[in-house]
Amino acid sequence: MADETLVEEIVRRYDGEIGMLIPMMQDLQTACGYLAVDQLKRLAERLEVPLSRLYAVATFYSSFRLAPKGQHEVTLCVGTVCHLKGAGAISEMIREAFKVEAGGTTPDGLFSFQPVNCVGACALAPVMIVDGKYYDGVSKDSVLKILHGLPLAEPAAKGEGNK
Ligand code: FES
Repeated sequence: MADETLVEEIVRRYDGEIGMLIPMMQDLQTACGYLAVDQLKRLAERLEVPLSRLYAVATFYSSFRLAPKGQHEVTLCVGTVCHLKGAGAISEMIREAFKVEAGGTTPDGLFSFQPVNCVGACALAPVMIVDGKYYDGVSKDSVLKILHGLPLAEPAAKGEGNK
């Protein structure tokens, strides 16, 4: 479905009610996998609200993503207990070492990075989850090792058979 049609259909679904902005953004993300800048601009124009308002919502809620999904899902708990055990420094290290923002995807598409609050395993803090697998008591070193060990699948070859 064209972006324009998609945004229009979603806005109509909620009668253009600005109070339904979050469900609209969730529907947009469900349809596309993430919130692309063009789509957010279109939605903001259609609802006649500043784009910054949509960005504020998208960055406040950890369920929204502003980049396509990476090949792996990396979730780092930065809840109180994990934070006290160094999760903040680990999060900063991941962002710097892999050039990835919270809620974003590494430039090579290797993984999406999502810091979250408490994953319910405080006794194991600090906790990182990679593709659903829990790693407990992680440190900067162990996280680096785990993330550098993630396999990066080759993108599908383009133009094969055009030799
Ligand atoms: S604060 Fe990290 S698992 Fe609870």
